[in-house]
Amino acid sequence: MLNALIEKISRKKALVGVIGLGYVGLPLAREFARAGVKVLGFDVDTAKVKALSAGRSYIEHIPASAIKEMLRSKRFAATTDFKQLRKCDCILICVPTPLTRMREPDLSYVRDTADAIAATLRPGQLVVLESTTYPGTTREVVLPVLAATGLKLGRDFFLAFSPEREDPGRTDHTTKTIPKVVGGCEKNSLAAAVACYQAVLDEVVPVSSCEAAEACKILENTYRCVNIALVNELKTLFDRMGIDVWEVIRAASTKPFGFTPFYPGPGLGGHCIPIDPFYLSWKARQYDMATRFIELAGEVNVSMPQYVTGKLMDALNDRGKALKGSRILVLGLAYKKDVDDVRESPSLELIELLLARGAKVDYNDPHCPRTHKMRAHDLKMASKPLSPKMLASYDAVLISTDHSAYDYKQIVRCAKLVVDTRNATADVKTGRAKIVKA
Ligand SMILES: NC(=O)c1ccc[n+]([C@@H]2O[C@H](COP(=O)([O-])OP(=O)(O)OC[C@H]3O[C@@H](n4cnc5c(N)ncnc54)[C@H](O)[C@@H]3O)[C@@H](O)[C@H]2O)c1
Repeated sequence: MLNALIEKISRKKALVGVIGLGYVGLPLAREFARAGVKVLGFDVDTAKVKALSAGRSYIEHIPASAIKEMLRSKRFAATTDFKQLRKCDCILICVPTPLTRMREPDLSYVRDTADAIAATLRPGQLVVLESTTYPGTTREVVLPVLAATGLKLGRDFFLAFSPEREDPGRTDHTTKTIPKVVGGCEKNSLAAAVACYQAVLDEVVPVSSCEAAEACKILENTYRCVNIALVNELKTLFDRMGIDVWEVIRAASTKPFGFTPFYPGPGLGGHCIPIDPFYLSWKARQYDMATRFIELAGEVNVSMPQYVTGKLMDALNDRGKALKGSRILVLGLAYKKDVDDVRESPSLELIELLLARGAKVDYNDPHCPRTHKMRAHDLKMASKPLSPKMLASYDAVLISTDHSAYDYKQIVRCAKLVVDTRNATADVKTGRAKIVKA
């Protein structure tokens, strides 16, 4: 069974099923199709499947032309019909892994997907979980569902974990060139999963178990979360000491070894860094361990929007104004520059904090024309078009996301006050007295 599957994969005759056609699943499907492998994409969202089938994209950095090309090549189709999973030789799971309201892992999407796969599981299929999660999920959550079919792991079907390392918007490292870590539930599963990714990606990094692969992704994201918290805390201390944290990081970055720069900001955003470490914290409790670094980093990062609001209030106060009643323009809704993803964005938190304190708030984001209802926010706002006149009409402009599309010179020239959380105005020479870093 294993040899037949590997042979089929290496001849690019295997059909790859990608479940969850979001920020991770869609680029992955595209990579397989580009490499000459047939892909069937599955999603529960009928609007997404309809859009893809009509050659439209719903992710800003994946152009419609890319979807049209995938369709034209006849190597991609999207469906909501999960019975078609039976046709697939390799099934890659890219569904969401959010937190519940109580900040505990919400594996309902993974469980639903495992059920859907089990319903049609047949001998010779490889299943790989790509969704970020705590070590143990593949073996403890997915495997029992598949094994309950009566088929045997390592003989009839193969199960592995391979973390997605997608960084939306990045162009220097792509889905194809980013090394792919793979861990199997046993050795045949590892061999099948390695063959699957090797067929299309530049580098595959096998590890000894699916737990090691799961832990690898959590380490990467926890590393970022903790280091960002560190610079965020140092930012607040250095501010009190009259030292510019950005200048310090720039200087420290000249050290040719032993220092990797991380940058402060208005808080943490995105689907990964603010969420994934808490998957590990939750699991650690089973082992009577507390993940103190993670908790502390979370505390520091979560407090950043409050800190920024405080800096804005002080800056207005210095100009004889109260935040209550002031008109504030927030620049950037997305959680990071040049993307349209607003999940967990600190801009949303900032807007709510400002509104709660009686400010009149608008926002602009060239990538996010309007807000949508989300798990924790429903702002019902639309992006205001920028102009010199409108910039001048606000009591303060708060830079929350440093999109490349912004003309920072013009922003500083026209605004009465600029509160900059990203050092986006670093190169603006005139009007610096109006800029407050936060
Ligand atoms: N976005 C990133 O930058 C990134 C990077 C690395 C890892 N990840 C991880 O990858 C996973 C997916 O993240 P994403 O950003 O692509 O999420 P996403 O929300 O953009 O996409 C997930 C897709 O899965 C679909 N879906 C939900 N339930 C489903 C089900 N039962 N069956 C089929 N489809 C279903 C949704 O409709 C959506 O289209 C998460 O675990 C995330 O932590 C994300």
